[in-house]
Amino acid sequence: MTEARMLVIDDDEAICRFCESALTRLPNLNVTSENRARNAVRLCESGKFDIVLTDLNMPEISGVEILKLVKESHPDIPVIIMTGYPSLDNSVQCLRLGAADYVLKPLLLEDLLSTVSRVLEEKRLQQENRLLRHHLERKSSLIDIIGESEAIQTVCNNISNLAETNVDVLIWGETGTGKELVARNIHSSSDRSLKPFVPVDCSAIPPDLFESEFFGHERGAFTGATQRTLGLMEYADGGTLFLDEIAELTLPQQAKLLRSLQERSFRRVGSRQEVSVDIRLLAATNRDLKEEVKAKRFREDLYFRIYVGEVRLPPLRQRVGDVEILLEHYLEVFGREMNRPDRRPNPEALQMLSSYGWPGNVRELINSVRRMLAMSRRKSLSVEDVPLDIRSAMEGLSEKTQLGGFLGEKARTMELFEYEYMVSILKTCGGDISAVARMADISRQSVYRMLERLSLDANEFRVGAEE
Ligand SMILES: Nc1ncnc2c1ncn2[C@@H]1O[C@H](COP(=O)(O)OP(=O)(O)OP(=O)(O)O)[C@@H](O)[C@H]1O
Ligand SMILES: [Mg+2]
Repeated sequence: MTEARMLVIDDDEAICRFCESALTRLPNLNVTSENRARNAVRLCESGKFDIVLTDLNMPEISGVEILKLVKESHPDIPVIIMTGYPSLDNSVQCLRLGAADYVLKPLLLEDLLSTVSRVLEEKRLQQENRLLRHHLERKSSLIDIIGESEAIQTVCNNISNLAETNVDVLIWGETGTGKELVARNIHSSSDRSLKPFVPVDCSAIPPDLFESEFFGHERGAFTGATQRTLGLMEYADGGTLFLDEIAELTLPQQAKLLRSLQERSFRRVGSRQEVSVDIRLLAATNRDLKEEVKAKRFREDLYFRIYVGEVRLPPLRQRVGDVEILLEHYLEVFGREMNRPDRRPNPEALQMLSSYGWPGNVRELINSVRRMLAMSRRKSLSVEDVPLDIRSAMEGLSEKTQLGGFLGEKARTMELFEYEYMVSILKTCGGDISAVARMADISRQSVYRMLERLSLDANEFRVGAEE
């Protein structure tokens, strides 16, 4: 359990000392006291404390001012007021300003301890609730894995089997095949689902920050380390750490990671103390890790450490049947979102989309659906509505030469961009030409010319217009 940090403020040094020694009886509490107003203000503003206990009547600054200051800068930090003058007026004022509670002076040890521990407990529960809510929201917004191919059914079975266990899992798959989706599903179907899921993109961690990112650091560990910071491993405690693109780690980083994974413990930078964590590791890669091991770019021992369970995601081109199902699903989802429901590809367009190779897999399919919906003018989506890159890939070189090579491609990309831009403004303005002109900062004539060139009809975007 992490330690809570408490700040005690009283102009009377004796009271400060009394509180410090009394409160250290509470477990996991680290108490600091301050009797000088200016320092007290600075400490309150730093936000480095989890709870503040302050005297009400002090010569340089009042407890009410302290309370206001904390509530303005860090509303989550509870403030307890100590007062020797319990008038109804000022206690009501304090509670109204957000004080968590107050204790009466002269201080009674038992009173002080029970009030502080109750306020700390309330804060802990609040945080837990927030975390719970966060994860419940996550869970309900979790995307289902769509597909009826045998390959996807196997993936789904694997996920539920693995979710019951606690083993580390390696997830293989080309880009956009759903590796992160699988990792989230394993986590949220496991009994760690209420604890954090911490995704880490290993290719995005600057090499010199690796240790501090993973293991955290103590205050003063290096220049700029102004406070203790928890690393990703500690954030994932009790939950799941998802190491995406694990093959991107350098060999020295792999060595450090391996040690901490074997022990499930590590030291924060600048500290000698071992911190133990309970984490489940999921890792993903789009490379052939075995080849990486052979080429000595990936440590074999780390490979075997993480390769206990596995999920292999086949590329979309190997499960053509799923293309149609995914198209249907995402046309429905984005059709609703983009106010273009019930648009479906006609047989030629579907034929084209099904035989396309989808190098970017499901992610590419999702983007293509959005673009098709933006381009579409009718309910039935035709080959003309299929994004240009797919069309030219399918229509081969002949199309490219016809268009005049690269310049033609570029012109079409520009046109597509203009088209999407225009559609989005038309939607925002409900088809009102003057509003469109103002928004795009061009003349009404230019708007008309653009609409004609892009074969767009502003009337279709009028609110309440027939689909
Ligand atoms: N079977 C599926 N059903 C529904 N949606 C899917 C499926 N597979 C992937 N997706 C969606 O496709 C998108 C890409 O998936 P994800 O980010 O998990 O891929 P990835 O393998 O991690 O890709 P990358 O290697 O590029 O990081 C996400 O929006 C995800 O929700
Ligand atoms: Mg990913």
